[in-house]
Amino acid sequence: MASTVEERLKEVAAVGQEIAESGIAYHDGKFVPLADAKVSIATHALQYGTGVFEGIRAYWNPAHEQLYVFRLREHFERMARSVRIVRIELPGDPEALSQIALELLRKNGFKSDVYIRPLAFKAARSVKVALRGLRDGFGMYSFPLGAYLPTGGLAAHTSSWQRTSDNAIPARGKLTGAYINTALAVDEAHDYESDEAIFLTADGHVSEGGGANIFMVRDGALITPPVTADILEGITRDSILELAAELGMVVEERQIDRTELYVAEEVFFCGTGAQVAPCVQIDGRAVGDGAIGPVAKKIGDLYFAIARGDSKEHPEWRTAVYKR
Ligand SMILES: Cc1ncc(COP(=O)(O)O)c(C=O)c1O
Repeated sequence: MASTVEERLKEVAAVGQEIAESGIAYHDGKFVPLADAKVSIATHALQYGTGVFEGIRAYWNPAHEQLYVFRLREHFERMARSVRIVRIELPGDPEALSQIALELLRKNGFKSDVYIRPLAFKAARSVKVALRGLRDGFGMYSFPLGAYLPTGGLAAHTSSWQRTSDNAIPARGKLTGAYINTALAVDEAHDYESDEAIFLTADGHVSEGGGANIFMVRDGALITPPVTADILEGITRDSILELAAELGMVVEERQIDRTELYVAEEVFFCGTGAQVAPCVQIDGRAVGDGAIGPVAKKIGDLYFAIARGDSKEHPEWRTAVYKR
């Protein structure tokens, strides 16, 4: 059974709180107190959303006394692709930025699950709406984070807000300004006592969640929209496609109709924030029998075990933060 709205809100309550201005951040080449990592209100990115960000998770393993970052390098590789779209220069290659992230985590001495937020942006104090000739800035900070979406069975709402198409604001790039689209859709989902939005593309097919990719199970096959469905090319999505294939499942990347979700055996969201978040209700209809299905359970258990280092599988996906 789906947990109640109150229970689900309780699980994600912390994500709605303001981030404490404590600890160390990285800003324009230096490690500084987060409280000092400030920008001008005239910053271009603040006016026009001309920034690129990443969201990375690190999981604390108490038995190993170790913090493991999940697919660290792949996040900076995606960031390097995103910035090409909006002509921002990063201050280093994916390897150099990965090292900064590890140093940031060590300086903060985290011993809990944390989220890392790198941000590259048009830092110039300029009102010119353009992309060239504007100074770039770069920052990174990190903070403890539990669930971003409920993981015990959530409710989703198909949004009346359309996913921005590649020809408008490309979802392929993790662009700060593009998240207005997500904020509108998630806000609407909340009006319907739902936890997450489901975006449709301009041609009416399923795209992704507000801040997560989406999978469904039909006739036992695991299916997700293709990278041409105005989605962010998720790193968790990629991990799940690989894990499912290793489990011997039939895996498909293909167009999905809205009502396929209504008749699917299972639906779940995935993402760095979302982790693996089974969806038990869509637009007021129970998904399958309204409980977390066996595929979402199996994939979720595997994801958490691998990301936290409780499983030895896929060591290449984990980067240990502390020297032991
Ligand atoms: C819009 C959107 N789609 C998908 C994802 C999932 O991507 P990833 O698994 O790389 O975090 C995210 C971020 O988590 C997102 O913001």
